[in-house]
Amino acid sequence: MPRPHVLLSAAVSLDGCLDDTGEGRLLLSGAEDFDRVDAIRAASDAILVGAGTLRADRPRLLVNSQERRAGRVADGRPAYPLKVTVSGSGELDPGDPFWTTGGERLVYTTDRGAAVARARLGDAARVVALGAAVDWAALLDDLGGRGVRRLMVEGGARVHTQLLRLGLADELRLAVAPLVVGEPDAPRLFGPGAYPGGPRGRMRVLGSEPVGDVIVTRYAPTAPGTTDGVTAADRHWLRLACDLAADCPPSETAFSVGAVVVAADGTELARGHSREGGDPVVHAEEAALAKLPGDDPRLATATVYSSLEPCAHRASRPKPCARLIVDAGVRRVVTAWREPDTFVPGADGIGVLAQAGVVVAEVPELAAAAILPNRHLVTPTVS
Ligand SMILES: NC(=O)c1ccc[n+]([C@@H]2O[C@H](COP(=O)([O-])OP(=O)(O)OC[C@H]3O[C@@H](n4cnc5c(N)ncnc54)[C@H](OP(=O)(O)O)[C@@H]3O)[C@@H](O)[C@H]2O)c1
Ligand SMILES: [Zn+2]
Repeated sequence: MPRPHVLLSAAVSLDGCLDDTGEGRLLLSGAEDFDRVDAIRAASDAILVGAGTLRADRPRLLVNSQERRAGRVADGRPAYPLKVTVSGSGELDPGDPFWTTGGERLVYTTDRGAAVARARLGDAARVVALGAAVDWAALLDDLGGRGVRRLMVEGGARVHTQLLRLGLADELRLAVAPLVVGEPDAPRLFGPGAYPGGPRGRMRVLGSEPVGDVIVTRYAPTAPGTTDGVTAADRHWLRLACDLAADCPPSETAFSVGAVVVAADGTELARGHSREGGDPVVHAEEAALAKLPGDDPRLATATVYSSLEPCAHRASRPKPCARLIVDAGVRRVVTAWREPDTFVPGADGIGVLAQAGVVVAEVPELAAAAILPNRHLVTPTVS
C-alpha cells in the first residue's frame, strides 16, 4: 500500500511560535482561516496530532461544517476523518474531547506505551504498538495499509519537526499571524537540528495568499527546479541506489549510501555501496567508479545515481566523491537526498559538481528511501 500524502499544517506568530507559555491555547489565526482548515480536514482521510498537543490544547479535530460532512458521506466516506495521535508514554487522558467526539481514533505508540494507552482508553481508540520506538516510516506504512491516502498533520512542534527532518512531509501549509509572542520558551514550529538540504535546501513556494489577517503560504519541502529532466528511468536507477543503501553494513559514524553508474544507452556499468567489501571507509560512488577503467569512453555520457549527495570533503581519502566524479569525466548526477550537517556541516557536493559543469538533478520523493537506512543519524531523540 502506498504511504499517504503528508500535509503539515500550522499557524505561527511572526517569531515562529506555535503558542505562548500561558495557560490555554494562543489564538493565532481567525475565523476565515479556521474555515479553510475545516475544508482541508474534510478532504483528508486522517488527521494526526502529537500527544503533547492533546494535553496542551484538548482539540476536538472535527469537520465542523455539516455540509462538508454530508459531502464526505455522499462520497462513501465516514462523516469525520480518522483521528490519529502519537504517544511514546501512552499517558493519554480519556476525558479529552479527542476521544469522545467525531469518528474513529487510532493511537500509535511503543510496546511499553501500548499497555498504558489500552488501560486508559479502553474502547475509545485502537492502539497500535510499533515496537521499542515509534518509527514514522512504519507509522505511515501502517496508515497507508488502512487506506489513508491524505494525512493532515496539525502539530505540534515535535511531530512537525520529525516529519520534516525525515523528509516525510510532502507539503507544508503555514498561516503566519501578525503578532509577536516574544517569549524565549514558547514552542517553535521547527526545533534546532539538521534538516534535509540543511540551510541551503530552500523550499519551493506553491502559493501564498492573505486569509483574513493571516498570510497562508504553501511550501513543497524540496529545493527549487531540481527535478527538471528527471525521467522514469532515472527514478528506477535512483531507487536501486536507495535499495543498495539499505543493504549497507550499519554504522554509527558514517552514512549508508548506494550508487549506480549507468551508460547513456541505459546499461548498468557499475554499482557500489558504503563500506563495500569490508572496507570501513569506502564510499558508494568511489566503490562504483573504481570498478571501471579511468579511460572508459562511456563515462563521458554516463549518469551517476547516488542515494545521497556526493561528498565534498573527506578525511579518509585524498579526493571526495564529487571530485572523483568530475575527474572521471561524468557530466550528470541524479541524487535523492542532500547531505545533512551530521558529520560535515555545510558540505556542498552538489555545488562542487555544478561548478565543474556537472548537471545535478534531485528527486525529492525518493529522499525518504535514501534517509531510511540513516534515520538513526538524523532522527531527533524523543524522550
Ligand atoms: N499553532 C498551531 O498550529 C499548533 C498546532 C498544534 C499544536 N500547537 C502547540 O504545540 C505545542 C505542543 O507541541 P509539542 O511539541 O509539545 O507536542 P506534540 O508534537 O503535539 O507531541 C509531542 C508528543 O508526541 C509524542 N511523540 C511525538 N513523536 C514521537 C515519537 N517519535 N515517538 C514516540 N512519541 C512521540 C510524545 O508523546 P508522549 O509524551 O505521550 O510520549 C511527545 O511528547 C502546544 O503548545 C500547542 O498549543 C500549535
Ligand atoms: Zn563520498
